[in-house]
Amino acid sequence: ITQKATNITWHQGNITPADRERLLNQKGVVLWFTGLSASGKSTLALSVEERLFEMGHLTSVLDGDNIRHGLNKNLGFSPEDREENIRRIGEVSKLFADAGVITMTAFISPYRADRDKARERLSEGRFIEIYMQVPLHIAEQRDPKGLYEKARKGEIKEFTGISAPYEEPLKPELIVDTGKLNVKESTDLVLNYLKGKNII
Ligand code: PPS
Repeated sequence: ITQKATNITWHQGNITPADRERLLNQKGVVLWFTGLSASGKSTLALSVEERLFEMGHLTSVLDGDNIRHGLNKNLGFSPEDREENIRRIGEVSKLFADAGVITMTAFISPYRADRDKARERLSEGRFIEIYMQVPLHIAEQRDPKGLYEKARKGEIKEFTGISAPYEEPLKPELIVDTGKLNVKESTDLVLNYLKGKNII
């Protein structure tokens, strides 16, 4: 768009991420939910957030549909635009995590390489990839927004699972089998993971 900035230097403040974590009594991490449309990413992220909030934790949820109304409203669904979408979310979620917030992102994030780049921006153990595993035909039956139907008719181009790829995570920290577990059980799974890793 414009020329890259030069003559910029990184400022390090006196208050560190570790200081903020002590204040909040939690670790600043990113819970990166990934999966097909209608796999339950937002539902689970919001449920986890509610439970964490009740326990006195500071959280934030970044959600595909919402972020695409603001920060990323200039982006579509081509491979390049999805890459840029995920790159920005990766950067924003890192800022949140450095602020000590338990940050949840709910984006399809279909490309493994893009998710891995977001992971690399965070230090070890702070990027928790949660794969919302669901067979395509189940997601298609759910179709809460009628998008799969439109995609099948060719009314939406490059729709994930139909006419655009989804690359499964190879080594996610957690796999949620959304066909078997209900929301409460899936929420417990995530919370138990966070407790086990002393994040909360
Ligand atoms: S991505 O791939 O991570 O950049 O996508 P994301 O930002 O999560 O946006 C996905 C939501 O946008 C709607 N939508 C589409 N999804 C996939 N492919 C195409 N072509 C498309 N067009 C619109 C859809 O409602 C997705 O919402 P979820 O919550 O995932 O169902």
